[in-house]
Amino acid sequence: MATSPTPVVLLTGASAGLGRATAELLAANGFRVFGTSRTPQPDPSRPYVMLPLDVRSDESVQACIQRLLAQAGRIDVLINNAGFGLTGALEEASLDQVKGLFETNFFGAVRMVNAVLPTMRRQHGGSIVNISSIAGIAASPFLGFYSASKHALEGYSEALRHEVKAFNIRVALIEPGFFPSDFVQATQGPDRTIAEYAAPGRRASAVIDHAVATGADPHDIARLILGVLRSRAPRLRHLVGADARLFALARRLEPEPLFEQQARWTFRLDDRPLVEALSAALLRLLGVWRPRRAR
Ligand SMILES: NC(=O)c1ccc[n+]([C@@H]2O[C@H](COP(=O)([O-])OP(=O)(O)OC[C@H]3O[C@@H](n4cnc5c(N)ncnc54)[C@H](OP(=O)(O)O)[C@@H]3O)[C@@H](O)[C@H]2O)c1
Repeated sequence: MATSPTPVVLLTGASAGLGRATAELLAANGFRVFGTSRTPQPDPSRPYVMLPLDVRSDESVQACIQRLLAQAGRIDVLINNAGFGLTGALEEASLDQVKGLFETNFFGAVRMVNAVLPTMRRQHGGSIVNISSIAGIAASPFLGFYSASKHALEGYSEALRHEVKAFNIRVALIEPGFFPSDFVQATQGPDRTIAEYAAPGRRASAVIDHAVATGADPHDIARLILGVLRSRAPRLRHLVGADARLFALARRLEPEPLFEQQARWTFRLDDRPLVEALSAALLRLLGVWRPRRAR
């Protein structure tokens, strides 16, 4: 996917978590990596350059691109990794919070893509890798606006891939399940709480926290990204993590009522055992499928 002999990579959010693991792996594999942070700290042990960047700001994005081009003269790979979560029921979040989330998770990626495309089109080549989530395929309750921001990123990336193919620019989506990182600490809670959502919200959050703690190794996800960059013809979507693969498969194969019931059980929304939840879904399904009698 990457074209020049020492491909130049711009990776947003390289101070922690998946971004840091990916920056380290790519630097160790012959890529010239420029990572970013809103507050880059000097660290001589890092095998890559850190640039200041806040993806919410047009000025910050332009300054970052200018600094990178002044040092490297080209951009072969953009990895849009910067992002954070917002928990709580959809009704509990303020519109300002939602706009703030989209400003980073969605518009931040759009800003970065718009900033690198002129260079990539001039080079007649490049790769854009957007870090989505399993929540971009199947929405997680009590992570609803986060899921919506990743659904937006998925639709955007699919259309972008078609539009820039003629310029030899490849677009790929990485869709990880939950994995341990600073994500939980960086995740925002809602601006207000509504008592009626407290119990299911607590149960869903416990499921998500457990999934994050026991999820895939960020280094495995970094290895997948390296594989995508080395591939001559990468696919659009790349699932990673057992939970992501299972959930995506269920979404594709199961009839909607069964998948919906499975999701409700997974996130403990109804606080009922699996067998009871699945039999309820099956009964609903039988109702859905019962052939209508001719009158
Ligand atoms: N952890 C999971 O379970 C999980 C699952 C699926 C997908 N993902 C996605 O994976 C990506 C990385 O998440 P992570 O788990 O590695 O989280 P993390 O450890 O919290 O890292 C997030 C990174 O994003 C950067 N960032 C946040 N806001 C920014 C902004 N406005 N401008 C520039 N950089 C910003 C942070 O850098 P500074 O704070 O230094 O600026 C940090 O380096 C995210 O897109 C996330 O949605 C995570």
